Amino acid sequence: MTTSSDKIAIKDFNFYFNEKQVIHNLNLGIPPNKIFAVIGPANSGITTLLRSLNRLCDLSHEARQEGEILLDGRNIRAPDVSVTELRRRVGIVFDVPTPLPMSIFDNVAYGPRLNRKTRGKNKSALSGIAEEALRQAALWDEVKDRLNAPAMSLSGGQQQRLCLARVLALKPEVILLDRPCSGLDPISTAKIEDSLIELKNRFTIVISPHNIQQAGRVSDRIAFMLMGRLIEEGANADVFSNPKDQRTSDYITGRFG
Ligand SMILES: Nc1ncnc2c1ncn2[C@@H]1O[C@H](COP(=O)(O)OP(=O)(O)O)[C@@H](O)[C@H]1O
Ligand SMILES: [Mg+2]
Repeated sequence: MTTSSDKIAIKDFNFYFNEKQVIHNLNLGIPPNKIFAVIGPANSGITTLLRSLNRLCDLSHEARQEGEILLDGRNIRAPDVSVTELRRRVGIVFDVPTPLPMSIFDNVAYGPRLNRKTRGKNKSALSGIAEEALRQAALWDEVKDRLNAPAMSLSGGQQQRLCLARVLALKPEVILLDRPCSGLDPISTAKIEDSLIELKNRFTIVISPHNIQQAGRVSDRIAFMLMGRLIEEGANADVFSNPKDQRTSDYITGRFG
């Protein structure tokens, strides 16, 4: 179901890799300022869906899609949509942190330096943007005294929060997170979850959570996908306490997946 107040509306969406269909007739509305979790066992099409939301799948020549994805009511594939601008508005954080081989500060300042709106800003303006993004990603206190150290010297959990800060520095509207805590210790995971809950006041967040428990802790709404099909979608408490479909119930109680 989609409504006109959705930040993102996915309509009759089909996705194919060559002849293989990996997303089937998906209709899904993602409301603003909420954490929306998409859950499901491996090969449900969740990564493909997240990547489609900022057109990362455009790069693969075997990919083909049908249907529409609307951002604020506008088709993200409309001919006049700039992919660069779309990816600034809709940022993505992957499961494996991928800092650039440069300093902590430069990782966060990299996007704003290239971006049309913030290009040419002086050092102190960039410092302000970087500090705000690092604070929002709950990393500032740990790195403020070593901003010029290589990003690679950070722990895995810190690198993941740095990747989140890099996205936040572009002042996106939507943040996509594809299993952002899969390689992280519980303390780093808790820090990321706390910052997401804080951030949802200003952003729309779509997360493929690390596991069911994480979906339960952080999300407002949950969509359950299985083999490329949406099985059900609803408010967190409803999906957990009163699932409509037996397969959802089996999945969240750990019978499979
Ligand atoms: N580049 C690709 N080429 C062909 N098939 C792919 C490609 N990427 C993913 N797939 C297939 O698409 C299906 C969905 O994958 P994916 O979106 O990664 O699911 P999930 O994130 O839910 O595990 C899987 O069957 C996977 O093998
Ligand atoms: Mg995946």
